[in-house]
Amino acid sequence: MGASIQINGITHQFSPKGEVVLQDLMMDIGAGSNIALIGESGCGKSTLLHMLAGLLIPSEGCVKINGRQVTRAHPEWNMMFQRPGLYPWLNVRQNVALGLQFTGQTQNLKGRIDEMLELVGLRDRSEARIQDLSGGQQQRVALARSLAVEPQMILLDEPFSALDAFTRRNLQLEVSSIARDKGITLVLVTHDIDEALNMGERVVVMGRNPGTFRSIMDIDLSFPRNPMHPAFTEIREDLMDRFRASVETPADSETTGHTSQTPDPKEIANG
Ligand SMILES: Nc1ncnc2c1ncn2[C@@H]1O[C@H](COP(=O)(O)OP(=O)(O)OP(=O)(O)O)[C@@H](O)[C@H]1O
Ligand SMILES: [Mg+2]
Repeated sequence: MGASIQINGITHQFSPKGEVVLQDLMMDIGAGSNIALIGESGCGKSTLLHMLAGLLIPSEGCVKINGRQVTRAHPEWNMMFQRPGLYPWLNVRQNVALGLQFTGQTQNLKGRIDEMLELVGLRDRSEARIQDLSGGQQQRVALARSLAVEPQMILLDEPFSALDAFTRRNLQLEVSSIARDKGITLVLVTHDIDEALNMGERVVVMGRNPGTFRSIMDIDLSFPRNPMHPAFTEIREDLMDRFRASVETPADSETTGHTSQTPDPKEIANG
């Protein structure tokens, strides 16, 4: 079962007299849902993701996971970064084993690793060295390592940005399909609007100075999504406009600094 996430009035400054990086963030993310966060560089996406992961405590407000305030990182909440973070002196199988060993889930270790490698299409590369894999394959190993511990949520910080367009799209489809099948809550940070639309049931546009939720859009298109479909194209245009507005107009010129949890019916795009 996926984790439910509550972002509860978060405001953050890295130092007492420093700039306000995030302001008044409020949002509920339902268990098992997929959310994409987009926004201009520096608007605080990674900072927020670190808070969800328990790696950073906000100066005001809090994050609650399954109703409990987050005070530290937890092995069932997994974070994947832009680079896969694998150990080159360990082979594929040994890298996938790490999370399981760390959390003490060592019963049937071999079977569990094989199952995860099968899931990400790397069963035949289990003994390979990391440096002999492509970038996309390395991200798959990192994904297998994350999934092996049966996480309740996965937080992705631009994990596919270094990959070619084809590999990237395949991984987007696979990760979102695995998360939906297994009911894992997924929060994805990306600069890429198509990536957000390929993966997100909801897309949140953030603005900067300070970082706020500027627009929340529920994307009512079935998966897997087709970027060539007219409904996809229409939503992309709308999202581009919102993204542009978030860059061009400062947060405090809006009627509200953050969008209400229940989107306006106009914001629910029909597929
Ligand atoms: N440890 C830190 N100490 C001080 N300021 C920080 C720290 N980490 C981030 N910041 C500042 O907080 C703001 C938000 O940074 P963050 O990395 O969250 O942005 P982002 O939206 O993830 O950007 P990008 O899209 O470029 O990754 C930036 O102004 C950044 O300089
Ligand atoms: Mg970032």
